[in-house]
Amino acid sequence: MADKSNLLNVLLVAAIDFGTTFSGYAFSCLNDEKKDVPIYLNKNWGQNLGFQSYKAPTSVLLGPNREFVAFGFEAVERYAVLTENEKDKSHYFFENFKMKLHASHGEIKKDIPLTATNGMTLPALEVFAHALKFLSNHLRNAVKVSSGLVTKAENIRWVITVPAIWNDAAKHFMREAAYKAGIVSRNYKNHLLVALEPEAASLFCRQLPVSHFRGNTSCPTSLQMDPQDRYMVVDCGGGTVDVTVHEIRDDGSVRELHRPTGGPWGGTNVDSNFNDLLDRIFGQEFIKHYRNKYPQENVQLMAEFEMRKRSATDANVHLNYGFVSFLKNTSPQNIADIVSSANVEGVRFSSGVLRMSKEVVQSLFQPVLAQIVSHIQSLLANPKLSNIKTIFLVGGFSDSPLLVKAITDAVSSSEVRVLVPEEASLAVIKGAVLFGRNPDAIQERVSPRTYGVRSTTEFKEGVHPLEKKVVAHGLTLCTDIFNKLLEVDDVVVLNESKSMEFRAMRDNQEGATVYLFCTSEKNPSFTTDDGMDICGRVHVDMPDTCGGKERAIEIKFTFGKTEIDVQAEDLTSHSRAFTTIDFLHS
Ligand SMILES: Nc1ncnc2c1ncn2[C@@H]1O[C@H](COP(=O)(O)OP(=O)(O)OP(=O)(O)O)[C@@H](O)[C@H]1O
Ligand SMILES: [Mg+2]
Repeated sequence: MADKSNLLNVLLVAAIDFGTTFSGYAFSCLNDEKKDVPIYLNKNWGQNLGFQSYKAPTSVLLGPNREFVAFGFEAVERYAVLTENEKDKSHYFFENFKMKLHASHGEIKKDIPLTATNGMTLPALEVFAHALKFLSNHLRNAVKVSSGLVTKAENIRWVITVPAIWNDAAKHFMREAAYKAGIVSRNYKNHLLVALEPEAASLFCRQLPVSHFRGNTSCPTSLQMDPQDRYMVVDCGGGTVDVTVHEIRDDGSVRELHRPTGGPWGGTNVDSNFNDLLDRIFGQEFIKHYRNKYPQENVQLMAEFEMRKRSATDANVHLNYGFVSFLKNTSPQNIADIVSSANVEGVRFSSGVLRMSKEVVQSLFQPVLAQIVSHIQSLLANPKLSNIKTIFLVGGFSDSPLLVKAITDAVSSSEVRVLVPEEASLAVIKGAVLFGRNPDAIQERVSPRTYGVRSTTEFKEGVHPLEKKVVAHGLTLCTDIFNKLLEVDDVVVLNESKSMEFRAMRDNQEGATVYLFCTSEKNPSFTTDDGMDICGRVHVDMPDTCGGKERAIEIKFTFGKTEIDVQAEDLTSHSRAFTTIDFLHS
């Protein structure tokens, strides 16, 4: 299966930002040579339901036979209607499911399951594919409506964004989901790029005039950035906070200075802290039963909290009918007494509303903000990252005044300026289009892990451990040697490749599988060391058996792009050997 991508035919860049909480798309025509490239977005998500937004909730509703029913605001609304008075348990409703790929760090199986709110599970790949299919169809339709063009598959370069801190398997899972969604076929794999969210956002921020950053509206100049200038991009999303640090090169392209870092410290943690608060006040058991019995009301309760938390002042959340009546059935006390006897300072109940003081709201943000701030401080303290002049805060969570203040205060004694673009939550998706237009903008990256392959060598007494000793074909060998291709924190140039060679083991051998291992250790000795993972399985076809055991194959790994790429050459026939790489555990 040769890759038939012909990128010369690309006319349109189409990007999908698949977020933990919100998703959207954007596109631009490649033949548009204007300096300020017009980037089109759908600004009417949820219009039929009275919303108007550039992104829609990443919520998927499937029917009893796993058929697609709705996505986004419509999915939330239809699910609410379906589950009114507990009538329906047959539909599958999914939200916040992107974090499944973060949580399964290390080993991601192709068939990992996702649990819907009705308690039933479906393969995650199917749910991701439904969402991607809906978004890509919506985008194609928007292109048709706005330009009258019916764009053929080979004319589109698709970009899907992922957190930079995701491992290779998680990134690959998104690619597989895109194949399943029919966005591109495997034969045209180069028509799909995976963009790293903070990298994409950096491209967007760099081209903005200063007046487009908050608090700088009167300054008309462009954002002056010169070669050697260093900046940090902190993408604060719903699920993850993802940080990248760049330096501008002499030619205007960008060098990554530190491997992507971050953690699961996104805005949904504030929601979890609110849930913990409810547990504390009303009891874990009660809240658990309430969520099971009234899933739809719970979705509404959380939607109200979502709006209320944004102001960063005191917040009132209605406890809906189901909550109140269910509580009355389970406790003889009235609600106001239950709330006051929980002894949580700053929380009270009156007129059907749970009232939280400003201090309580801040306390829901505090632990997650502390993690983000401490992470940024540790990066700024790293001597390799000295002279960072600018921190760009992007992602929807950067709309939080509490978050901006926490970070600004934390760096106030330094020369670092903190800039938040007006459209912080759209920086990733608009930047993804810019990345699709110029995928070579980031010329050097820093390896997030150490990569290598397994090899054998002559066994040396006293040097190699005895348990690694094997005798084969009259030779005494040491097995499981980790043959390092790339070390964690090594700098890799965009198209630079690292090679390994192997010979056929049998005369009639028609293929081979080579395992790519990875670890966070700098200098591992064996592929069996603690912390070692199988990152990918490379399969190489060797159909021409003429050379017998003399046949040598070279595998080239390219590590400097957003995904690891692999190619192989039969060194005997000098022909390209067909290869596939699979990052997912089966
Ligand atoms: N003013 C605000 N105050 C607090 N939180 C906010 C505010 N505005 C948005 N958020 C939070 O930001 C998050 C959404 O941000 P964004 O759309 O960037 O996330 P995402 O792309 O869905 O997630 P990820 O990038 O982690 O996959 C949500 O958790 C939302 O509650
Ligand atoms: Mg995001």
